[in-house]
Amino acid sequence: MPDIRLLYSSAASADKSYGALVEIMNHAQTRNIERGITGILCYGSGQFLQALEGERRAVNALYHRIAQDARHADCQLIDVAEIESRAFPEWTMKVVNWETGDTARRRAVLQADTGSDVFDPAVMTAAQATTFLLHLAALERELAAD
Ligand SMILES: Cc1cc2nc3c(=O)[nH]c(=O)nc-3n(C[C@H](O)[C@H](O)[C@H](O)COP(=O)(O)O)c2cc1C
Repeated sequence: MPDIRLLYSSAASADKSYGALVEIMNHAQTRNIERGITGILCYGSGQFLQALEGERRAVNALYHRIAQDARHADCQLIDVAEIESRAFPEWTMKVVNWETGDTARRRAVLQADTGSDVFDPAVMTAAQATTFLLHLAALERELAAD
């Protein structure tokens, strides 16, 4: 069974704070380790853009669970691709809060990859969303190494 990478966007439920998201993700990261899932989740302006990578069956099962989670809505599948190697192998789920940290450099990456500096994953093409997450990951690694 090949590994795949799946990208989707969604809208956070109105009452979800960033603190609540951190709690969801603490649990999710433990489960992702058990299931061999890695990835990145970007949260901003009440929207999510998440990449899940791992064994095809495991990623599909997780996506179906996530899509039914009442803590967000309007899940839109953006892309599914077979992968030779993982783009986020070191992260059981890297969470990036768009509104904190080096927002200027992140916005520059977003502008270069999508033509807009407003984080709105629901309107990104598959190519834009993939390239943006790869470049965002590279920036986060660089910032972590500083
Ligand atoms: C935006 C968002 C992203 C999520 N990402 C993950 C994830 O990467 N892994 C995970 O196990 N659950 C994730 N969840 C939670 C799942 O929807 C679901 O609650 C969880 O898989 C159930 O955990 P369980 O298998 O321990 O019952 C996410 C939820 C939301 C709202």
